Amino acid sequence: MSLHRAALGSSFSTAFVTGASSGLGRAFCAMLLEEGVTVWGTARDPARLTGPWAGPGTFLPVRLDLRDSPGSEAAFAVAAEAAGGSFDLVIHNAGYGVFGAFETVPATTWIEQLETMLLTTLRLNHAALARFRRRDPARGTLVNVSSLAVEFPLPFMSGYNVAKSGLSALSESLIFETRGSGVTVIDFRPGDYRTSFNQAMSVHASPADPALQPYWRALETNLEASPGPELAARDLRRALARGRSGTVRSGGFFQSRLAPWLAGLAPQSWRRAAQTRYFGGR
Ligand SMILES: NC(=O)c1ccc[n+]([C@@H]2O[C@H](COP(=O)([O-])OP(=O)(O)OC[C@H]3O[C@@H](n4cnc5c(N)ncnc54)[C@H](OP(=O)(O)O)[C@@H]3O)[C@@H](O)[C@H]2O)c1
Repeated sequence: MSLHRAALGSSFSTAFVTGASSGLGRAFCAMLLEEGVTVWGTARDPARLTGPWAGPGTFLPVRLDLRDSPGSEAAFAVAAEAAGGSFDLVIHNAGYGVFGAFETVPATTWIEQLETMLLTTLRLNHAALARFRRRDPARGTLVNVSSLAVEFPLPFMSGYNVAKSGLSALSESLIFETRGSGVTVIDFRPGDYRTSFNQAMSVHASPADPALQPYWRALETNLEASPGPELAARDLRRALARGRSGTVRSGGFFQSRLAPWLAGLAPQSWRRAAQTRYFGGR
């Protein structure tokens, strides 16, 4: 533990984490607080951010709703000013799922998901990077929490798959643009983690619908059987300690290591067939 603390402590004294009230975001905050970092953590309702938060770092709650773009940018700016003009580390983690057949879910629901998870997050990336660049010398670390859904799209979650693919494309663009600048960009792609993600999911399907039921069951079973979010925090801590831009896959061995490796060898049609079976379809 002291090794990790020595590795992170000198590089990060302040951090901003969206979606700190639950799951991965809460575990990231706990890990950073353990490292002595001052963390501004967000939720739509700050009442969900009450502790206990263990030190030696300090936790500062921020109200932020990604559905409100100007409000999110304003909340970020206020916190960044309080942190001295810029954070050392910004983690864009907040997100949610929508489950349902593409054509039966209202188009406005998909659009709202993209505006929330992709466009507002893009604006917050913009604000964070501009502040990193203004430092002399430029420095800071940006983490976008994407998903292995970029490589293995989740069934009947089209808006989510698009949002995460867009976010990873943004990270890849920024990795290129920030080479040699003192800014680090991490495209963090978790596999399944046991969080409140499925409970928070907006479900637009009847549980009895035979076309969707096996897929929903598979999503539930996979999440229940998955590791706790502390593993994701451990993987992120390792990536932060390395201090290099890049893609980080995190999760159980099969999802985060074996499946991407095998998928790289197989033709697309095999990948699709294997994935359909994995999710209980035919
Ligand atoms: N769990 C997994 O298996 C998994 C796998 C791959 C990727 N991910 C990604 O990891 C991230 C965290 O998910 P999780 O699994 O930890 O789920 P979670 O336990 O449901 O946490 C989601 C977090 O996002 C926040 N949030 C949701 N909608 C928001 C909005 N409109 N504005 C601001 N904050 C909002 C929630 O805060 P409030 O509701 O309190 O506002 C909460 O803190 C997400 O981006 C998710 O897509 C998760």
